[in-house]
Amino acid sequence: MTIDLAALPHDFLWGTATAAYQIEGAVAEDGRSPSIWDTFSHTPGKVANGDTGDIACDHYHRWREDIALMRQLGTNAYRLSVAWPRIVPGGDGPVNPKGLDFYDQLIDALLDAGITPSVTLYHWDLPQVLQDRGGWPERDTAEHFAAYAETVAARLGDRVTHWTTLNEPLCSAWIGHLEGLMAPGLTDLTAAVRASYHLLLGHGLASKAIRAVAPGAQVGIVNNLSTIHPASDRPEDLAAARRMDGHTNRWWLDPVHGRGFPADMREVYGVELPEKPGDSAAIAAPLDWLGLNYYFPQTVADDPTGPAPYARAVRRPGVPRTGMDWEVDASGIETLLLRLTAEYGARKLYVTENGSAYPDTVRPDGTIDDPGRQDYLERHLAACASAARRGAPLAGYFAWSLLDNFEWAYGYDKRFGLVHVDYRTQARTIKGTGHRYAEIIRGHRDRVPKAA
Ligand code: IFM
Repeated sequence: MTIDLAALPHDFLWGTATAAYQIEGAVAEDGRSPSIWDTFSHTPGKVANGDTGDIACDHYHRWREDIALMRQLGTNAYRLSVAWPRIVPGGDGPVNPKGLDFYDQLIDALLDAGITPSVTLYHWDLPQVLQDRGGWPERDTAEHFAAYAETVAARLGDRVTHWTTLNEPLCSAWIGHLEGLMAPGLTDLTAAVRASYHLLLGHGLASKAIRAVAPGAQVGIVNNLSTIHPASDRPEDLAAARRMDGHTNRWWLDPVHGRGFPADMREVYGVELPEKPGDSAAIAAPLDWLGLNYYFPQTVADDPTGPAPYARAVRRPGVPRTGMDWEVDASGIETLLLRLTAEYGARKLYVTENGSAYPDTVRPDGTIDDPGRQDYLERHLAACASAARRGAPLAGYFAWSLLDNFEWAYGYDKRFGLVHVDYRTQARTIKGTGHRYAEIIRGHRDRVPKAA
């Protein structure tokens, strides 16, 4: 497949992404307190096979090896998340120096390896103590988040310029509080809407706090967006698609762009927002860039008796699907990059996650050929380059994920890595897709004129 590499800027960031709870393990080491994901994964029936993040990829001890893998891939950027319960084990209050030390040494080693760190402050691992005090449905959590963000930025901000406040707040709010399939596992619309509000407030407050202690910080937010298609031309299905677009996309984009929470969706949810004077402006803190996590499109039909937003997913027959049973449609990433550019005036965009899970077979010689994942990668990179050619200010792409890891409620069965992890031995092996990614990166780098 041809990828129009010439459409990508010379200083394009070629990265991989991970998240703390999915790879670190060491959940009880060096003063870390439990997060809501420790609680959730240890609750019987919540995660496939009873898997937990207790050990995960043992990255907490093997991070040097993992940086060596990034070098082998030839990536020049790495998106990681910081575990709040390592930094502020009590949720608010005293800071744990050992937690900061861990990320400090990781950042130094990345920089030594010529890899730009991109740091996410919240990838779903809320300290359990804060959940016990009400969690994201409570305003205090947003304020504690900003204080924690300031602590991390004050320590790392002399070397880290690329900051993400929240990763996929949709998952925290909707999947965690409405669908109950992620921590904290609630099925309560009021709690979900309140959580969504305080997550975005936390984003705004944290953005300000980061900039106050780390001048020059480039701050953004990462959303998982989807293209939404109606199942038919029936007016009911068209309206359902509009609602799903509000639920998945506009609810998360409009407020941070100063447009407030979409009026149609407020009506759909029928939940009073916990608004206070000044919040709208705080939520709409300036964005240096926007992050797009894209995996699949959605086709929906009207579902008046289902849960909000009263739209149910419809399976399109004959469409290829990944091992997650997610549709493969690379045109969606291009559409969304162009939409963020045209509708939201994005000045800088990153694809902060994109990737696919397929069952991998390790050959007798130890190599891993993963054609499904490789095809997915190439198609989506081609679509990204096409979006850039058409004017989207795309500055980087982060493959999800560097490593196979703990895929939340799916446990370890679903493998998204460019690098295979044997969970019995923790041996890492670069898959065919990883080698292909390295080749694409080299191809782009070869086009960049060498400095005189
Ligand atoms: O593994 C997750 C990641 O934590 C957030 N975005 C989607 C990925 C694949 O499901």
